[in-house]
Amino acid sequence: MPTAMTHIHSDHEEMSQAAAGATRKAVERVLRRQDTFSLVLAGGSTPKRLYELLAVEDTPPIPWDQVHLFWGDERLVPPSDPTSNEGMARETLIDAVDIPASNIHPILTAFDHPETAAKAYEKVLVDFFAGPPAFDLVLLGLGEDGHTASLFPEDRPHEAADPGWVVGLQAPPRHSPRGRVSLTLPAINRARQVYFLVSGEGKHESLVAVRDQQDPALPATHVAPEEELHWFVDRAAQGGT
Ligand code: 6PG
Repeated sequence: MPTAMTHIHSDHEEMSQAAAGATRKAVERVLRRQDTFSLVLAGGSTPKRLYELLAVEDTPPIPWDQVHLFWGDERLVPPSDPTSNEGMARETLIDAVDIPASNIHPILTAFDHPETAAKAYEKVLVDFFAGPPAFDLVLLGLGEDGHTASLFPEDRPHEAADPGWVVGLQAPPRHSPRGRVSLTLPAINRARQVYFLVSGEGKHESLVAVRDQQDPALPATHVAPEEELHWFVDRAAQGGT
């Protein structure tokens, strides 16, 4: 089981600053012993500020020519769509840093079915890692229903017999757009580290259910990376006084 740690911050800004500092240090530490750092980006709104902070010059600097970017999940829409996770990351981070295009590995979505897109991304990962994916850091958000990436409680992804590394699916009706591609739990759990970013009082219940009560029905509960699991939360999500 990984070492799990919670970092509680007064608000979303301070949480984002802390997560950005930790990410910079993780990049620096890993690049002391290998040439590349593989970073998986989360979608949604919570990580936007973190991405903006990673885009600015700070210490330790991030050598973007040694960083490879991947996505934890994607909606089956073009990058120009306002709900695209790739589009959001380009706007908040990628367009502001000098990263080679060959270091950016988006989930391609120009397919008719999520399963086809998933198979294509699985090939990207297996080709890059010359075998099973082994990310250095995976960033994840947490939904109010306990989903993470596009792994939803209804689909019971933690019970899948042979989920592979990437899955294509239809999200539950409450989540639009419904066509999704997501890393599976085995792909996430082969990472060295996972950072969960959880902000806002709306996430309090799912944070407690996943982190504290470890409700087995919730996919996020089954996230267990090889080395370290960090929860970056603000007081509103923590339920702080
Ligand atoms: C997505 C994300 C998803 C997200 C949570 C939290 O594509 O939507 O990967 O898992 O992290 O839904 O979203 P917010 O950060 O917007 O609350």
